[in-house]
Amino acid sequence: MNTVSISRRKFAQLLGAGAACAVVKPAVSLAKTVPITHPAAPPLTGIVRLSSNENAYGPSPQALKAMTNVFHLACRYPDENAKALSEKLAKLNNVTPDQILLGDGSGEVLKLCAETLTGAQRGKLVVADPTFEAILHHATVNGAEVVKVPLTNSFAHDLAKMAEVSNAALVYICNPNNPTASITPKNELHDFISKTSSPTTILVDEAYFHYADSSDYDSVIPLIKDHPNLIVARTFSKIYGMAGLRCGYAVGQTETIAQLRAHQSWDSVNIMAVAAASASLDDANQVASGRRLNQETKTFVTTQLEAMGYNSIPSQANFVMFDVKRPVVPLIKALKDKNVEVGRLFPALPSHMRLTIGKKNEMEAFLTAFRQVAA
Ligand SMILES: Cc1ncc(COP(=O)(O)O)c(C=O)c1O
Repeated sequence: MNTVSISRRKFAQLLGAGAACAVVKPAVSLAKTVPITHPAAPPLTGIVRLSSNENAYGPSPQALKAMTNVFHLACRYPDENAKALSEKLAKLNNVTPDQILLGDGSGEVLKLCAETLTGAQRGKLVVADPTFEAILHHATVNGAEVVKVPLTNSFAHDLAKMAEVSNAALVYICNPNNPTASITPKNELHDFISKTSSPTTILVDEAYFHYADSSDYDSVIPLIKDHPNLIVARTFSKIYGMAGLRCGYAVGQTETIAQLRAHQSWDSVNIMAVAAASASLDDANQVASGRRLNQETKTFVTTQLEAMGYNSIPSQANFVMFDVKRPVVPLIKALKDKNVEVGRLFPALPSHMRLTIGKKNEMEAFLTAFRQVAA
């Protein structure tokens, strides 16, 4: 079951209780007092939020419990806990701890890469169009030129065209890609990485890694050992359901990571996020059930859309992009008026809607509203 047994208000009360408890009795764990049996609830606003590719099922119950266990450590910097998480992630990814950089969400990793590697002097950022825009904004603010290369007809990154861009300081490859949920085939990506040398750095954003099950897809983390110019970004915001907590990480060679670390705020990941991330990694069910529920619900909604005549781009993520066969913006607004929030406009695909896969009842609410506004 994926319903909630701890409300936000109760959670806040517990946080207060945790702080008080820490003052009088620092060694006491709060775990016994917190009856957590299920992951967290969707917000109680009446809004169906299918706009941000979040995980509607919430964090692992083990993550919730782990956070209650560190309430009393909120007065401490996260040093030891962050170190332990880096070690755990290093082991998981078959690298050393100094090859891991924890970030305040993977968004911080993207920002650090843009700031450290691109700019008027350092060179251009090369991205697909459309892709996740955050890094474009950071590079632009940093004075870098941004070159957008349209996706191929199969919605993969056009790596041949991306390779042709001169003076590329950083190539950003989002795989699976947001907003299209499509993948760039592993053989093409491996080939591109092996042919691209310093001073060009490649950043592969694997935020949706856990949702991809195509035999044409894999992580490029194993390639890092041979490529000092390769960085991979991962997040706890998606399958681990921790978008509000903010924890992500980068993997790269030691010197590459040290270069990014030099530009980072100290202690940028808070202790609650560190505790939750660490516990999540121990909960195999979080990934297995997250994948299964996402797949089932995705099949349900895409089948319904197809029956209505709307085709989706094959999705390898927790969202789908489908062709609404008219400008999407009025539909986005009309859905919002019905309390259903879907993804924003992506100007390269002005008649496509990005729809996060939520729980089945949320998708049913979406379909009901969509049938009305698209009629
Ligand atoms: C591809 C991609 N990368 C990075 C992020 C940022 O995630 P985080 O919450 O880890 O900052 C997102 C968020 O939606 C995303 O879609």
